[in-house]
Amino acid sequence: MIVLGIETSCDDTGIGIYDFKKHKVLSHIVSSQHEIHKKFLGVVPEYAARAHLEVIDVLFDYALKEVNLKPKDIDLICVTNRPGLIGSLFVGLMFSKGLSLALERPLKAVDHLEAHIFSPFIGFKKEDIPFPFLSIVVSGGHTHFYLVEDIGKYTLVAKTLDDALGEAFDKVGSHILNLGFPGGPYIDKIFQSYKGEYVSFTYPKVKKNPFNLSFSGFKTQAIKYYNQGIDKIKLAASLQKCTVDYLVSKIEKILKHYKINALAISGGVSANSYFRKKILSLKNVKVYLPNLKYTADNGVMVAYIGGFLFEKYGEDPIDVNAYSYSPLQQFN
Ligand code: KG4
Ligand code: ZN
Repeated sequence: MIVLGIETSCDDTGIGIYDFKKHKVLSHIVSSQHEIHKKFLGVVPEYAARAHLEVIDVLFDYALKEVNLKPKDIDLICVTNRPGLIGSLFVGLMFSKGLSLALERPLKAVDHLEAHIFSPFIGFKKEDIPFPFLSIVVSGGHTHFYLVEDIGKYTLVAKTLDDALGEAFDKVGSHILNLGFPGGPYIDKIFQSYKGEYVSFTYPKVKKNPFNLSFSGFKTQAIKYYNQGIDKIKLAASLQKCTVDYLVSKIEKILKHYKINALAISGGVSANSYFRKKILSLKNVKVYLPNLKYTADNGVMVAYIGGFLFEKYGEDPIDVNAYSYSPLQQFN
């Protein structure tokens, strides 16, 4: 089964082609819109939707040509339909519906979070996915922890109560420290060559569920340090060190509580060098990290989980809608 995956939930247009029988990635193409949004220091939804529209058909043709396939060789069309920017989601969804009707192939709508959750396992057969595992999606929009028992069986066990970690990096890195957009990779680059002392950040207290997290206080403390004249290189490196230490301390607590010995990390921030290093040094747990090329938004992860969802639940109706929110973002 040749599966097409289309991702347009935010500011990356992703096309993936995945051979579901051989569990092999055939094509992985992403067009990033960072150049368009960088002068606004954030994603402008209207520009994002228009930019997806401009490139999606070109990327689709390119992806097919690259692997010498014809549109009719595609057996299943998978597309992200939630959560995300509604205008952006509609571009991918409508393009996919058009293909589904024209090619007479089934359509499967995919949750963006679900696609990230399984991205560390791209290339794995179902029987090699280590259920149950703890999944942490850490991106620009999410810092969410799930207990994953099977395809389609997820329990949200903790999440950030305010900013996502990537969002905190982006706000401090781009808006306060003026390092570039998005801030996360710039902060990480600084961290990697930084050799000095760190300033410390106080960990936030969260009410009720002790596994939940909060990152907005780190932002406020960063502003305070900045106003005190702390060097911005030191500040950027310290922010990465302290927020990642904090996140990993939560991960350790959750693993212990749920007695889980498999851990999967995903989302844009899973590319972070210090986070990867710390996670890999955890004891008594098998760690699964996505290949760096699948940490950020992409179509391959949509094709991969879409194939399993289609096998388990069948196709979606052609009138399937797009949604800015996902049930996976909220506690039951
Ligand atoms: O998963 P993703 O591509 O899009 C969302 O679904 O949000 O994640 C983008 C986020 C941005 O906040 C970006 O700054 C962050 O991932 N990011 C990083 C790194 N690379 C990307 N944050 C820290 N270190 C990195 N190396
Ligand atoms: Zn994402």
